Amino acid sequence: MCGIIGAVAESAINPVLEGLGKLEYRGYDSSGISILSNNEIQTIKAQGKLNNLKQRLSMQPIEGDCCIGHTRWATHGKANVTNAHPHQCGQVSVVHNGIIENYLQLKQQLMQWGHHFNSSTDSEVIPHLINHYLAQQMSQEEAIEQAINQLKGSYALGVLINGASKNLYAIKQGSPLVISEGNNGAYMASDAMALGPDSGKIYYPKDNELIKLNTNEIKLCSGSANKKIHYINNKHCVKVISKGDYSSFMEKEIFEQVDLLKRLSVNNHTGEYSTINFKNLNKITIIACGTSYYAASVAKSWFEKYANILVEIDIASEYRYRSPIIIDNELVIFVSQSGETADTLAALRYAKNKNCQTLALVNVANSSIAREANFTFEIFAGPEIGVASTKAFTCQLAIFYKMAIEAAKQRAFIKNVEVKQLALNFMKLPYIMETVLQRCTDMKKIAKKLANYSNALFLGRGALTAIAQEGALKLKEISYIHAEAYAAGELKHGPIALLDEHMPVLVIAPKNTLTDKLLSNIQEAQARNAPLFIIGDSSIKQHISLQENEFFELPEIPESILPIISVIPMQLLALYTAQILGKNVDQPRNLAKSVTVE
Ligand code: G6P
Repeated sequence: MCGIIGAVAESAINPVLEGLGKLEYRGYDSSGISILSNNEIQTIKAQGKLNNLKQRLSMQPIEGDCCIGHTRWATHGKANVTNAHPHQCGQVSVVHNGIIENYLQLKQQLMQWGHHFNSSTDSEVIPHLINHYLAQQMSQEEAIEQAINQLKGSYALGVLINGASKNLYAIKQGSPLVISEGNNGAYMASDAMALGPDSGKIYYPKDNELIKLNTNEIKLCSGSANKKIHYINNKHCVKVISKGDYSSFMEKEIFEQVDLLKRLSVNNHTGEYSTINFKNLNKITIIACGTSYYAASVAKSWFEKYANILVEIDIASEYRYRSPIIIDNELVIFVSQSGETADTLAALRYAKNKNCQTLALVNVANSSIAREANFTFEIFAGPEIGVASTKAFTCQLAIFYKMAIEAAKQRAFIKNVEVKQLALNFMKLPYIMETVLQRCTDMKKIAKKLANYSNALFLGRGALTAIAQEGALKLKEISYIHAEAYAAGELKHGPIALLDEHMPVLVIAPKNTLTDKLLSNIQEAQARNAPLFIIGDSSIKQHISLQENEFFELPEIPESILPIISVIPMQLLALYTAQILGKNVDQPRNLAKSVTVE
């Protein structure tokens, strides 16, 4: 992943540092900048969060009008200052997002030519290669193009060269990159959200288009010399988002869900969903990663139950490398909050190559996945800052729910009155969610108890299995407690062997058609002394005695919207457990919000 940014403007360091702040969701192992100051490239880096770099820079302020910056999520080499970007060789400094797969061969070749390397990164070969070609009297453009011709893998690069003319170059292959022309400068970044207010016009370069940015112009260097850059308006020119009175962005985003769902339930996008001809579909395949994959899993149960459509779901990194069977009239849906996840994007390209009809469900309009799919639906969750996804998940589910209603109508599988009931349930959703969130202090008591364990087993049934999986994912992501989720019926086929007084079992057991089945699973766990945590209907307490710090009561919830409501206690539980353990919930270790490497 990693975030890159560059600016050619007066005091270029300011937009670069501001942009790095907005790109930190991509990685926070280290950060660094290179700036052209007094005809010299100065590079400053720091290990850890961006604040460490800012502190170093406050002791050593530098002015200059050409600057690049990087925030790192380590792939090759430990998270230390030496491996932090930018990497410099002579008069060339480079920031890189992506992976250079053939870096070892290139490094060996460069070492034979006498180059000396400092870091263990794949990226450092890039400034060395450019420098090598510059030394052969090539122009800056030629040297960069020669160098990138040698690279295998994916990259978005910012290249700063200190030569007769001061230029910043940007080029990409497979990784996201955006260019912007403002009134006071020229900018490049990994995503449009990182650009400041002076970036009304943006351009998404195609693979291997070399763009030159300097104080006079932004120029497309590759291909036809006179080719014009066609800008579009930057919809993402957003102000800095604050967490207000909340302790973290994650907490703010959890509590924001009520309003977001209120908006989604009154906004009638159903017209938009009718652009899909569900009637003639033979199959839907839904592809995603992480939390988005669990949204796909819930969507499968809705499409099957209410519209009788065959639905297959897959993890993007698996789909793209297996040989998926594609049939006539198949719709392939790609779900991604960021719209930039490398595996999901690659899977989309794979499906497009096979001539499938593709639909993207994204939070970031104009993202790579949104731009490349045949159709795009936005989930309207607004920028999600917390690395662990919360509001994007419920908004993904909300859009899937509306699509399932449209599919049910078109295919007339259920009666009209049932379709109406589904729509009515959706209107109730934000209000029931509000009631659940009002009970958040009950969840704090449960979190206090759960925080004493190192492992946990989460159980659900039907569509709620995916919610148990999402709950376990949330807990491990931010509290580092090892949690696994199972379909409750699978308990006796293996995981039951783990049960004793050290292995708590958390069960999502609302009132629904499967409650009795779940009761048996709960009793099986209790018989093996496993500490129990139940999120469910109060009737459970007639069968099992539970303390207040073991039971979270759900209100009465219509079955169709249960998955969207039941995830709320799971999000709260992960948040409070992590907070009790003193973890940074917005920036958990080793994770990044946007995974732009394979
Ligand atoms: C990362 C994030 C997760 C997210 C997953 C998929 O792992 O940390 O929160 O669910 O990527 O991201 P996407 O943007 O494609 O939904």
